[in-house]
Amino acid sequence: MHPLTRLLPLAALALTHQPEAQLPLTPNSDLPGQPLTLDTIPLLGYGTWNLKGDNVSDAVSLAIQTGYRHIDAAAVYGNEKDVGTGIADGLAKTGLKREDLWITSKLWNDHHGPDNVESGLAKTLSDLNLSYLDLYHMHWPVSTTSGTPEIEYLSTWDAMVTQLLSRGLVRHLGISNFSPAQLTALLNHTSHPPSVHQMELHPYLPQTSFLALHRENGIHVTAYSPFAGTNPTYAPGRDDAETPLLENPLINKIAAKRNCTPAQVSLVWGMSRGTSVIPKAQHADYIRENFESVGGGCRLKAKDLRKIDKLSVERQHRYNNPSKSWGVPLYEGLEDAGGRGDYRLRK
Ligand SMILES: NC(=O)c1ccc[n+]([C@@H]2O[C@H](COP(=O)([O-])OP(=O)(O)OC[C@H]3O[C@@H](n4cnc5c(N)ncnc54)[C@H](OP(=O)(O)O)[C@@H]3O)[C@@H](O)[C@H]2O)c1
Ligand SMILES: *[C@@H]1O[C@H](CO)[C@@H](O)[C@H](O)[C@H]1NC(C)=O
Ligand SMILES: *[C@@H]1O[C@H](CO)[C@@H](O)[C@H](O)[C@H]1NC(C)=O
Ligand SMILES: *[C@@H]1O[C@H](CO)[C@@H](O)[C@H](O)[C@H]1NC(C)=O
Repeated sequence: MHPLTRLLPLAALALTHQPEAQLPLTPNSDLPGQPLTLDTIPLLGYGTWNLKGDNVSDAVSLAIQTGYRHIDAAAVYGNEKDVGTGIADGLAKTGLKREDLWITSKLWNDHHGPDNVESGLAKTLSDLNLSYLDLYHMHWPVSTTSGTPEIEYLSTWDAMVTQLLSRGLVRHLGISNFSPAQLTALLNHTSHPPSVHQMELHPYLPQTSFLALHRENGIHVTAYSPFAGTNPTYAPGRDDAETPLLENPLINKIAAKRNCTPAQVSLVWGMSRGTSVIPKAQHADYIRENFESVGGGCRLKAKDLRKIDKLSVERQHRYNNPSKSWGVPLYEGLEDAGGRGDYRLRK
């Protein structure tokens, strides 16, 4: 069966659900023994990487006031204090409670290992001014704890389970930027599989078969950089011949036909695959525009989604690949794993 067909019921929900409505965290949540049965992650989240300047907290607060209920943060983004102020302000202005939000953050590479995960989370909770997270990812399968970057994740995972999850400081654990082999080794190793894998996903990097592996294992996937190379950190790495995703003629044609914007089309495509999407926007009008992709604001037809699926047939582009600058193998076996997306080398 074509994966899209299986996901169409989810797609229908994504296109019609009210802003407050949430979807099951995993498609397999009705299986016996799944600890996540009652938990849900909102399909549309708000990304916070590169939010900077003096209105970061205004932007986060505006996102909550606009209707976003899922915020994606990370220690390494260097803005968790302002994000936390924005969360508090958004809650005060909407009258919502902490439990009404899904808040994600990520353990940075310099806090791997059993002696460091607790302090890594403690700093994030203190900066965000929260007592718990809904989801805490291992940001990369890469540790710099002992100096040089190395592929190390099993003992860090075990420590996240015993020191953070078991003590209720985080409600779910996730991974990010793992390869298929790293995911398989982790699943083989642990009795607490990750609830979520956050990875780069957009029409120029759909990773369809990797997505299927997660579906088989009941792991929800969150799509980062849903606008492909739009983020200005990536933009210099675009191929000369490459059309930026939001200027892509097909995306624009579908947008015009369905009375959506190109950004909304990209987000609905992502949600229709059952993945959550976490677009970042600092501009107030983009924050609102992106939110209007849910709640019926942009409805696509299955044939639109199938056409977008074909955009990557000729080539795929991964924009976030620090393999060369860190000197570790990443994304082995995945699309465009070669390292041309290493924006860190251009600095
Ligand atoms: N796990 C990981 O390793 C990882 C890696 C990368 C990203 N992430 C997460 O994913 C989030 C999103 O990815 P991203 O920040 O790389 O990029 P993105 O969300 O794909 O794109 C952000 C860029 O698109 C612009 N934009 C937003 N809405 C727009 C619209 N409606 N029309 C036109 N342009 C629009 C933004 O502009 P303005 O901001 O100027 O308004 C910004 O320049 C991050 O913020 C972060 O939370 C995680
Ligand atoms: C933040 O400031 C920038 C630059 O002045 C502006 O374009 C943007 O709309 C502001 N965002 C919010 C949420 O206030
Ligand atoms: C942290 O949150 C509490 C409410 O839970 C609030 O009273 C306090 O002012 C916040 N602190 C900061 C530094 O924002
Ligand atoms: C899974 O574990 C078994 C037994 O410990 C081992 O033989 C096998 O190689 C492991 N597979 C992977 C993919 O790590």
